[in-house]
This record gives sequence, C-alpha cells and structure tokens, in this order.
Amino acid sequence: MYYADEVIEEVRSRNDIVDIIGSYVNLKKKGNSYSACCPFHHEKTPSFHVSREKQMYHCFGCGVGGNVYTFLMEHENYSFPEAVEALAERAGVKLPEQSMTPEAKHQADVRTKIKDMNKLAAGYFHYLLKNEHGAHAMEYLKNRGLTDETIQKFGLGFSDVYRDDLYKYLKSKGYKDEELKDSGLIKYDEKQGASDRFWNRVMYPIIDTNNRVIGFGGRVMGDAKPKYINTQDTPVFDKSRNLYGLNLAKKSKRPGIIFCEGYMDVISMHQAGFDNAVASLGTALTVGQVNLVKRFTDRVYLAYDSDEAGTKAALRALEIMREFEMPARVISLKPYKDPDELIQAEGNEGFEKRIEQAKSGIMFEIDILAHNYNQEDPQERTQFQKEAARRLSVIMDPMERKNYVDSVAEQYDIDAGSLKEAVTRFGTAGVNKVDTTVFRDNRNRRSPEEEKELKQLKTERLLITWLINENALFNKLEGKISAEDFLDPVYRDIVKALFEQYANEGKVTPAAIISHYQSKEEHEKVSAIMQQDFDMEIAQNEKSKVITDLVRSIRHRSIQHQIEHAKGDLVKTGQLMLAKAQIDKLQIIL
Ligand code: CTP
Ligand code: MN
Repeated sequence: MYYADEVIEEVRSRNDIVDIIGSYVNLKKKGNSYSACCPFHHEKTPSFHVSREKQMYHCFGCGVGGNVYTFLMEHENYSFPEAVEALAERAGVKLPEQSMTPEAKHQADVRTKIKDMNKLAAGYFHYLLKNEHGAHAMEYLKNRGLTDETIQKFGLGFSDVYRDDLYKYLKSKGYKDEELKDSGLIKYDEKQGASDRFWNRVMYPIIDTNNRVIGFGGRVMGDAKPKYINTQDTPVFDKSRNLYGLNLAKKSKRPGIIFCEGYMDVISMHQAGFDNAVASLGTALTVGQVNLVKRFTDRVYLAYDSDEAGTKAALRALEIMREFEMPARVISLKPYKDPDELIQAEGNEGFEKRIEQAKSGIMFEIDILAHNYNQEDPQERTQFQKEAARRLSVIMDPMERKNYVDSVAEQYDIDAGSLKEAVTRFGTAGVNKVDTTVFRDNRNRRSPEEEKELKQLKTERLLITWLINENALFNKLEGKISAEDFLDPVYRDIVKALFEQYANEGKVTPAAIISHYQSKEEHEKVSAIMQQDFDMEIAQNEKSKVITDLVRSIRHRSIQHQIEHAKGDLVKTGQLMLAKAQIDKLQIIL
C-alpha cells in the first residue's frame, strides 16, 4: 500500500501537529512551542516539545521525535499507511482507491464486516450490562472488586439469557446469515437454526493494538462449565497472534510487559495501576505473541498462577523468551493463586514488592530444578549441582556469571569454588539448551573504524542541522558540497530533498521530508537530525569557521573515498588529488 508523495504531504499539512498531539497529551504553550511531559517515557518535568512552525515534535529526555505520522506510529503503533489513512479520514481527504485483486477485495470486505459486527456486539453487550438485563452480571463484577471506570475501560459487557438475542440485534442492523456466520458470534445448527455463541455470560471484548474488537471471551457467573468460551479463529481473530490487554499495555509507562494467565488477572492488575499487564487468549503462550510484544518492550515479567500448571506454563514461556532473546523475570505469587487474588489481598504495594523480588529466568529454572532432586541424597544432590552448573555455564559476561554462581552457591549451600570450577568445565557448551537471555554480553565495544564512522556521521548531521536553521547557507554552499558527498544514504536523501525544497520554494519544510520514509526507525532517525539542538548564539565569524570545518571534513572523506574507488583511472585520480589539495582553501563566509 503506497500513497503518492503529494497525497501524503497533503494529508500531513492538513493535520496540525499541535491539534493532533494535543488530543493525546496536555500541551502547555511556551513561546513558540508547546511542551508536556513525554508520553513515551516516565518523567516529572516536561521535556517533550511540539513546534507548530516546524510541524514536528521532539523529546529531549528520551530522544523520540518526528512529524504527525511518526507520532501516530509511535503512540498508536500504526504502520505508516495506517497513520496516513487515519489522518486522511480526520481531515476529510479522500485517498485514492488502492488497486486490489477481486479476491483480495472480497477478503478485505469480509474482515471489515466482521470488525463492524464485533464493534456492534461489544456495544450491545456493554449496553446490556449497564441496564436492568445485566444487573446480575454487574453485581458479579462489582463483587469481584471492579470499578465503573475499569468496566468502562475494558468495555466489559453481558450477553443476555436468550439464545438468539444478539442474532436478532445484528439482523436488525441488516447483516445477512452468511455474514453473521463468518463473525463467529452466531452458530448454525441444522435443526435449531441460528443461535448466539455467547449467552448469559460476562463478556470480555478482545481488542487488538489498532483498537479494533477482534473477538470475545465470555465467562459464566457461577461454577458451570466451561468457565470460559472464546471466539474461535475467524479472518480477524488469530488467538496465537494477539494478547488480551495489549491495546492498553502498549501505552503504559511502566517498564516491561507483565504476562499473566487470565482475563481477570489483567483487569485486576490494570485497576491496581499495573497497566502493562497482558494475557494470552485461552492458550499457552505462542511464538507469535512474543514476536508481537517485542515491538513494544525489551523485557517481560511472568506472573503465572502459582499452581503446577502455572509453573509448567512459565517454564515453557521462558523457553520461548530465550528463543527471542527476550530477558524474562518470574514473579512469585505464593501463597496466592493468581495476580487477582494477590492484589485483592495485598493491594498495589504487595504486587509492586513482588515485581521487585522477581527472579531472573535462570534462577527460577534452577529453583524448579532443585525441587526435582532429593537434596538429602548425595548422588541426587551431585546431579542437581552438575545440572545447575551446566545452566550457569552459558553466562557470557564473567562478572554476571560470577554473581550468579555466588547466588546459587549460597542459596543451595554449595561450595562456591567447586561450583565455579564445574561451570568453567562446561565452557559454553550449554548455550543452546539453557537460558541465554540474562547473559547476553551487551557491552558495546566499538572498533576504531566504527568510532571514526560515528564521528563522521555526527559531522554530517551537524551540517544538516545548520542547513535547516540557517537557510542562507543554501546559496553559500552551492557548488561547494553536494548530497553525494555524504556517507550516510539517508543523509544523502535528506540533503538532496532540502536543496530541492529550497530551490523550488525558497524555504525548507523538514516535516515533509520525514514522510518520505515508512518505518518508525527511519522516522526516528530523520527527525533526530532535524531536531539537533545546538547553541545558535555563537558569533557570526565563529559560525563561518564551524561551518567551514564541517564542509571540509565531509568533502575530505568523500574525495578520499572516491580516490580509493578510482583505481587505475589516472585522469580521474589526478583530478581528485587536485580537489583534495584545494579543500584547505575552501572558505564559507556567512
Ligand atoms: N480459559 C479458557 N477456557 C476455560 C478456562 C480458562 O479459555 N474453560 C482461559 C481464559 O483466557 C482465562 C485463562 O484461561 O482467562 C485463565 O484461566 P483461569 O485462571 O481459570 O481464569 P481467570 O481469568 O483467572 O478467571 P477467574 O479469575 O474469573 O476465575
Ligand atoms: Mn485465574
């Protein structure tokens, strides 16, 4: 799905960034710019700035920034086309129809209809919960400690006691039997005809990260079985690729994502302030789900039930986290059964404490391991110690490894020296078998070449910043440096676009350049350059010197590079050598 640059630019220019961001965060006007506490990291004093003039935002605290599209991509986790579509709709710009095959068009229509039906159903269930039909269900939820606000936030509902209540409602909205069948909300039986899948249950709508209702979980209010019924997989609902609560958790400012087992756990945790909790949808954790959260976080906590099934599920989940190199910690809920119970009993502080005490994946595994051996029996104890050593052997970082060895030695009363020796003997043989997540060696050592390149890139960034802030430079630099002199391909594109904008319009529009890119990472990169902060108050002659140095350095690298690639071409090499010799004479005077 690609939209033409003109369309993208039209949509962007019709959505004022201050209005858009102002609808998400509380912006305060300060001189020419607006500021607020950053919605992307936790802070007490505002370092998030929005400029109406530049149509860009930037946080000096965590470094995020971009244009309206970037903001929606970051905040709503929209893809670039989704951000364009959302803003086009808002501004009433009609986007050109995408060309689709008839089959693809049909599939898209089916999906759209299902989402529409789900939305209607969710609204209807919620309406029932709030009127006399749902009095019993409301009482049930209140008894479980849920506030009106929580019920609202999760859009909870009630499916009525009649077998075809929703069916009639959706029919009255004009949906055909065939369509209702696709939605998974209605079942068909040869004898009895159509009936609702959910009736007389408390309803939990399942909402994806684009805020669309994709399915439901329905719970009985007593002890009847089955306790839950969930929507089966439909063209919009794939249990293995969605998580309950992620639509809210993705906006959380708390560190990490907490995985728990049940819908009720998620709801209880959010109500207690742990708004980074999610749960899988009636199945064990899947690879697709870890892949999904990876987009939002760099660490997870497991808060699984404290029974045997929960422990097994946690061990399995740790294995998947390891495959994804996702650091994981395990929260102990004992003596309570699940997060909901713990919070009912010990409240927010109780849970906060449990998070602090969470064990790293490997310590949790060794703990479980310890219980599998009879520690009184010397032979079993030896086996346990060897197995523990094998697990510890995968820790790459020597200091971290030592710390873990010491902890395990202390906790299980093993001689630290001999445990260390056993660990060393394993070398790193166990790497593939055991948790490597906690052990990644993340010291970022850089080679001298990398250092040099980083410095070069910084120089290039600085010159771009000057170009944006001192438009007089465009004329001064004409013929002295060109986009091709830049090392970084993205910078090259930016410089080219800036020169073009200046030539055509006599001014530059940095926010427009950002939307040449589609991914969040590119938006970040491009906008970071546009937002470089530096002291503009330096004297005019100083400025000239600074810019001259930047230009010389960029030209120097560029010519050197061309010389290296002009192998054999003597004429060209000669010209380049001459150009190189003249770099020192180059002067930019502002
Ligand atoms: N589950 C399910 N079908 C069942 C039982 C459970 O799909 N028959 C799924 C649901 O997603 C449920 C999760 O497994 O949320 C965890 O089950 P459980 O701990 O029994 O449910 P809770 O959500 O904790 O519900 P409650 O506290 O209301 O008992
Ligand atoms: Mn439970």
